[in-house]
Amino acid sequence: SIEDGLSAWLRYAPLPADLQKSYKSHSKIIALSSSKTSPIHTAGKELQDGIRRILNQEIDVTSSFQPDTPSPIIIGTVSSYAAVGGKIQDVPELKEDGFFLTTKGESVLILGENERGALYGTFEYLSVLAQGNFEEVAYATNPSGKIRWVNEWDNLDGSIERGYAGKSFFFKDGKVLQDLTRAAQYARLLASIRINGIVVNNVNAHCSLLNDENMAGLGRIADKMRPFGLRIGVALYFDSPRELGGLPTSDPLDPAVRAWWNDITSKLYKHVPDLLGFTIKANSEGQPGPLTYGRTLADGANMFARALKPHGDGLVMYRAFVYNHHLDESDLKNDRANAAVEYFAHLDAEFDENVIVQVKFGAIDFQVREPVNPLLANLRKTKAVIEFQICQEYMGQQSHVVYMAPLWKTILDFDLRIDGKPSLVRDVLSGERLHWSKSGYTAVVNVGNDTTWLGNHLAMSNLYAYGRLCWNPQADPVAMVQDWTRLTFGLNKTVVDTITKISMESWPAYEGYSGNLGIQTLCDIIYTHYGPSPGSMDGNGWGQWTRADANGLGMDRTVATGTGNAGQYPEEVAAMYEHIETTPDDLLLWFHHVPYSHRLKSGKTVIQHFYDAHYVGSATAQTFPTQWQALRSLIDDHRFEHVAFRLKYQAGHSIVWRDAVNRFYNAKCGIPDEKNRVGNY
Ligand code: GCU
Repeated sequence: SIEDGLSAWLRYAPLPADLQKSYKSHSKIIALSSSKTSPIHTAGKELQDGIRRILNQEIDVTSSFQPDTPSPIIIGTVSSYAAVGGKIQDVPELKEDGFFLTTKGESVLILGENERGALYGTFEYLSVLAQGNFEEVAYATNPSGKIRWVNEWDNLDGSIERGYAGKSFFFKDGKVLQDLTRAAQYARLLASIRINGIVVNNVNAHCSLLNDENMAGLGRIADKMRPFGLRIGVALYFDSPRELGGLPTSDPLDPAVRAWWNDITSKLYKHVPDLLGFTIKANSEGQPGPLTYGRTLADGANMFARALKPHGDGLVMYRAFVYNHHLDESDLKNDRANAAVEYFAHLDAEFDENVIVQVKFGAIDFQVREPVNPLLANLRKTKAVIEFQICQEYMGQQSHVVYMAPLWKTILDFDLRIDGKPSLVRDVLSGERLHWSKSGYTAVVNVGNDTTWLGNHLAMSNLYAYGRLCWNPQADPVAMVQDWTRLTFGLNKTVVDTITKISMESWPAYEGYSGNLGIQTLCDIIYTHYGPSPGSMDGNGWGQWTRADANGLGMDRTVATGTGNAGQYPEEVAAMYEHIETTPDDLLLWFHHVPYSHRLKSGKTVIQHFYDAHYVGSATAQTFPTQWQALRSLIDDHRFEHVAFRLKYQAGHSIVWRDAVNRFYNAKCGIPDEKNRVGNY
């Protein structure tokens, strides 16, 4: 139903009666909350509601501790529990936002390192109850990433850049909406996957966000988020001093400009006292920035950092997505993938302590497969977050099912060998590898006011898995999608197995029909980023080139003969990517220009691999509608039909992809398909 879609994985569907009966009842929820806006207060209500719905039991909530309450469920922080005389000897040391959960013995104890952690622990407890799992447990868990944020590309007019699920539920007609009900519902979903920050407006920001009325509106948004342990940040338009403030310049070293930002920041803190900070997209895709005024990127970032500093722990998330989008393709040395390292690496020591560089996972732009962004191996002092994208801009825009946790895992599990030492990306992001005090994750989500949030019920597994990976990047994609399915669609084994199978097959299938061997997603590059258009990749300044001609394709990114991009990685990784023999097949065309007849490690030629992969990928997608049919009557009709419609579309569109791409390369190189399918119509 619509209600099911809105509550996503927090449906709290009733368990079968026999299971309900086997739950050991509790007399009371004691939520040791300091106020009505405390996440612990939220946790108490959430648990009461969840137990009512999942277990059909009524249970009271109180905030006052009565030591003789029989078998209570206690929610608190370690310190608030200790303060009322609770025993905390057995509670392991917790990190910020971490929690301890024990269901052993008579009572249930959920203790957070802070109030937010206690809410996370409550959601965890509800998640296992909702999956019918009453096993006794006692454990502590802590986040891998301290920064676990989301970005929304919402515009003030209510549209959402690269949003595929309706309009903004934050803004409309240049203002913050009066009715922020959906914002609060979203906060609840985010808290349940332990997201602790949200940047509410588009990185292509507008200066009118900072007018008095909108700053007050941002205060209202923050008020809705706070009970869920979520803090808000904003994206800023670099030229606001000129365009909104009427100053002659936005030069970051100009005292009047700095004073203007200091003043704006103070005003903002009046409305949002726990502001997360600022996200900055500057000197990127036509946006102004410090380079516009002859200053360095660090000068720009530090100006914002110093405006935030006096107010607390606010961060500047300075995006590394700086590149020239009028790049000349005729110069074989030009390479957009080099830009981040070229712009940022030499500034490593220049950024203030509260600046974090926000790095897209690959050096181009959320493609179906990319190597890890080399900038992540070129920072030492400057801390970073990785940026993923949950809205599937290049991944079928939620009209195609593509479960992306396996793709993200290829990034997080990659060993960058920084300074010749083990350097898994996930250990860089946790801060362990380079001893960073703050780092982690962010992702572009772009939910909208559609009742499915993302535009497709199945796409929500990506948001769910993203949150889980920020907390524990070693989480298993299969286990995550299974948990998500049980919570979203129910415990039936056919349902869980079918959705797991479709999900796990989906990224390989999409890669099969949309972009093989590291060539990137061969979609329309100029505007929509949707649908097959291999011819649009080249011949423009965007730099997402394939360099396909009659003889071969791929970008030569070697140091020896190409753009030098392979050399931006640490020695051992650079050596691997420098040579065709050691480059994995799935990134061959990212790093090398080869003839269509080049033989892969698999033994196939590049062109035959293209032909075959497109047929295999599309054939897999064509099984999705049939696989889905098994779920009719096992899930509600509303969501069944919604997904069935989209899977059928995906199956058809995969054929369009297959034939468009295969015919394009067949026509380019004239090499026949060994199986006589392509060019033989
Ligand atoms: C992509 C996307 C843009 C977006 C940009 C960014 O290029 O197509 O719409 O603004 O990324 O991340 O800033």
